[in-house]
Amino acid sequence: LCRFPLISVRNVPLMSLIASNFDTIWAFTPDPSDLLIATYPKAGTTWTQEIVDLLLHNGDAEACKRAPTPVRSPFLEICSPKPIPSGKMIKTHLPIQLVPLGFWENKCKTIYVARNAKDNLVSYYHFDRMNQTQPEPGPWDGYIHKFMRGDVGWGSWYDHVKGYWVEREKKNILYLFYEDMKENPRREVERIMKYLDLSLSDEVISRIVELTSFKNMKENPMSNYSCIPSQVFDHNISAFMRKGEVGDWRNHFTSEQSKMFDEDYKEKMKDVNIPFRDLI
Ligand code: A3P
Repeated sequence: LCRFPLISVRNVPLMSLIASNFDTIWAFTPDPSDLLIATYPKAGTTWTQEIVDLLLHNGDAEACKRAPTPVRSPFLEICSPKPIPSGKMIKTHLPIQLVPLGFWENKCKTIYVARNAKDNLVSYYHFDRMNQTQPEPGPWDGYIHKFMRGDVGWGSWYDHVKGYWVEREKKNILYLFYEDMKENPRREVERIMKYLDLSLSDEVISRIVELTSFKNMKENPMSNYSCIPSQVFDHNISAFMRKGEVGDWRNHFTSEQSKMFDEDYKEKMKDVNIPFRDLI
C-alpha cells in the first residue's frame, strides 16, 4: 500500500492509480437509467448517496444497511472497468470536462453537491491525513496553498464548482449546496425527490431525513466507511464522519490565512456568481 502520487490528466491532477486507468474510465458508457452523483471530494457525497438510495427505496431503513455505501453506489474512478450494474447511483469526483460523454449523451440525471471552499478545504485536509492512499497533506499552512493552487487530488476546487455551475441548465444538473442541506435537510431531500420524479409521503420523507442525520450515518457501519481496512482509512487519525458541520474552518484558519484566502478567492471566482455562504 502506498500514498499514490498525483499525475496530471488533461491538466487535472489525479491519483496515479486513476490517471493510469483514465482511458478506461473515459470509455465508460452508462445506462440512461444510471444516476450520477458528482462532487468535489468532501463536499457531502456520502450524505447525498444515502439520501438518494433511501429515496429510491421508499425510505426503507434496511436499504441503507444492506451493503457499504461504495457497494450500493459505485465510485466511477475506482470501479472502471468492472461492469457497474445499470440503474445505479454512480459517484464521481471528476471535474465536468472529464466525465465520460455517455452520461450526457444518455441524459443521465446528475446531482452535484458543492460545499463552501473553506469547510471543503478543512474536510479534505483531515481526509488526506487519514486516507493512506492520497498524498500526504503536509503542514496545515502549506495545505491551504496546495488547495488554492489545485495541487490536490481531482484538482482545483474553483474550476470544479464553476464547471458544473455553468453547465447546470444545459445538462439538467441538480446543483445543491451542503450548507442548504444542513440548514434544512427536509427541504433539500424534497428537492432531490422531485428531481428524481418521485413522490413519497411526508412520513417517509421524515424517516429519510432521520436516517441520514450525521449521527445516524456515523453510527451505521454501512455508511461510516468502517468497511475500508484501517491500512487505507485510518479512522484513528481522523474519522471519515468527522464533524459534519458548517463553519469548522473558523477553528482552523488564522485571521491572516482567512484574509489571504478571501483575496485569492475573490479573484478566482470573479467570473461567476455561485451563491456560496458561510465563507466570511
Ligand atoms: P467533515 O470532514 O467536515 O466532517 P464526502 O462524503 O464528500 O467525502 O464528504 C464528507 C464530509 O461530509 C465530512 O465532513 C462528513 O462528516 C460530512 N458528512 C457526511 N455525512 C453527513 C451528514 N449526514 N450530515 C452532515 N455532514 C455529513
